[in-house]
Amino acid sequence: MVVVLGLPVVHGHGGVAWHSFKQLLDAGRGSHVTGLAELKRYLARFGYMAKPGRDTTDAFDEHLEVAVRRYQTRLSLPVTGRLDNATLDQIMSPRCGVGDDDVERPVSVALSPGAQGGVVSRFTFFKGEPRWTRSDPPIVLSYAVSPTATVGYLPPAAVRAVFQRAFARWARTIPVGFVETDDYEAADIKVGFYAGNHGDGVPFDGPLGILGHAFSPKNGRLHLDASEHWAVDFDVDATASAIDLESVATHEIGHVLGLGHSTSPRAVMYPSIKPREKKVRLTVDDVEGVQALYGSNPQFSLSSLSEQGTSSSSPRRLLAGSARLLCTVLVILVTQL
Ligand SMILES: *[C@@H]1O[C@H](CO)[C@@H](O)[C@H](O)[C@H]1NC(C)=O
Ligand SMILES: [Zn+2]
Ligand SMILES: [Zn+2]
Repeated sequence: MVVVLGLPVVHGHGGVAWHSFKQLLDAGRGSHVTGLAELKRYLARFGYMAKPGRDTTDAFDEHLEVAVRRYQTRLSLPVTGRLDNATLDQIMSPRCGVGDDDVERPVSVALSPGAQGGVVSRFTFFKGEPRWTRSDPPIVLSYAVSPTATVGYLPPAAVRAVFQRAFARWARTIPVGFVETDDYEAADIKVGFYAGNHGDGVPFDGPLGILGHAFSPKNGRLHLDASEHWAVDFDVDATASAIDLESVATHEIGHVLGLGHSTSPRAVMYPSIKPREKKVRLTVDDVEGVQALYGSNPQFSLSSLSEQGTSSSSPRRLLAGSARLLCTVLVILVTQL
């Protein structure tokens, strides 16, 4: 009997963005480790410190410590000022290319620092709180997936279905509608997959690292890194480094609407996501953020959020998961015969 089914393909991670930061584990003030100069560029890239000059060193100085503390605060990690395990794990995780700094927080947060027992909002907006407007509400935005900026292995219909679901999740919560159009040039929101330098001044970086980015209203560009291994269904794609298209699409649409990154690790608008992680459910934080910009959809209530299906717990997925486990067990058994 030969069983060749569902074995996860484990890709080597050599050369994958940010993997070399692993050697910085436990570095802190006073350390001198190869790679710290690169880390300074990373932290500058996402808005945590001033851009270091060409002559920057691998010395862990006070500026780097301040930047690491800022990063830890923003990502809701224990604030140690050192490159501890949790911090490095987060730094090395794939993430959105939008910086964490170019944002403002709602006034209510400024008014209630450390409010006892109170729920402090953790969402942010782009500076100036730009949003889509229409002189004649309701707001209906058209979107199109580029017919040319694609990845060959994803069926166009599957990509369109992913974006339909992702837009629908936001549309439920606010009085804003989204309609798909075939007229890419005329669409308010233009979605496309691009690799490397693609003409907007913010190049992509190959596998993992930066996954995508989007621009603040009313720009409407939503770009995904064509070098990722995108998955539309983990049940049929066992690639270890696969990134869930729907999760990143939902996140980037939040930017298109005007949200910045949230400090809440559960929020869709948190900046990072792991390979094979699925995070498509809007949290209360995401919804309160987008409703602060657009108001609430009259048919929507926050209490309905918990009813949104987590796809990972649907019976079909559980079954598929068990089937895969069974196959793996079979393969192991067969190999040992
Ligand atoms: C953090 O610890 C976990 C579990 O021990 C390990 O798998 C992971 O590689 C560590 N991360 C770093 C950056 O060293
Ligand atoms: Zn983002
Ligand atoms: Zn771009």
